[in-house]
Amino acid sequence: MALFKKKEKQDYSGLVLPEHIGIIMDGNGRWAKSRMLPRSAGHRAGAKVFRTITRYCSDIGIKYLTVYAFSTENWRRPADEVSALMRLFKDYLEEALSDFKDDTIVVRFIGDKSQFDDDLRALMVENEEESKDRDGMVLNIAMNYGSRDELVRAVKSISEGVKDGSIDINSIDEKTVSDHLYTAGQPDPDLIIRPSGEYRISNFMLWQAAYTEFVIMNKLWPDFTTDDLDEAIKLFNQRNRRFGGV
Ligand code: FPP
Repeated sequence: MALFKKKEKQDYSGLVLPEHIGIIMDGNGRWAKSRMLPRSAGHRAGAKVFRTITRYCSDIGIKYLTVYAFSTENWRRPADEVSALMRLFKDYLEEALSDFKDDTIVVRFIGDKSQFDDDLRALMVENEEESKDRDGMVLNIAMNYGSRDELVRAVKSISEGVKDGSIDINSIDEKTVSDHLYTAGQPDPDLIIRPSGEYRISNFMLWQAAYTEFVIMNKLWPDFTTDDLDEAIKLFNQRNRRFGGV
């Protein structure tokens, strides 16, 4: 049974909801392999779970959800796997445009859109445009995202600002850097969940995760349920966040 009730900030036992959750959706390939299925079947199952978890996060009142869907390194995968993923992204974004008209979720993409084909890029832009004035959860879909790439872009953009005089070098501080990331204006993630039992950050939100709590779960992403999300939030509540203090 779901632990959190719709749109309630706290459940009966007084748990606090993280404002921003990040999820590294890992384990699709292993899930498929264990069933003797092609990896693309694992991604299809993973996309279904992505829909369920996104809806649940929005329903229980999470304000920001960031999912790692495709990294800057994932292009190195076999061509058939990459094209199966692109097909899934297109299907989801087409469905989001036609079926979720009255949705409250704001869809954003973090990452470099320029490497996607014209159709997919157009769908990404259309989804952002269509949803930008909504007032619900912000869903960041990290696609062609790599945190090092994001930081290099931020350094270049700040350097341009210094060169053209719009940024004073002495005024550069942590906020300047944050303001030049894809997540500018958003709070840092409070909780990052990584299913599939891997203890790695895999180039995900390196700057933003400075004080994030990590929950690693021994479940492959296609097996992940809303109960697992509840469990991760419970574990988050047991952490004593000190942000470098005592
Ligand atoms: C990592 O598992 C997963 C990915 C690279 C793809 C994640 C994408 C989805 C879950 C689909 C999301 C869909 C939308 C519409 C955003 P892996 O393949 O590395 O698994 P493995 O470590 O077991 O091989």
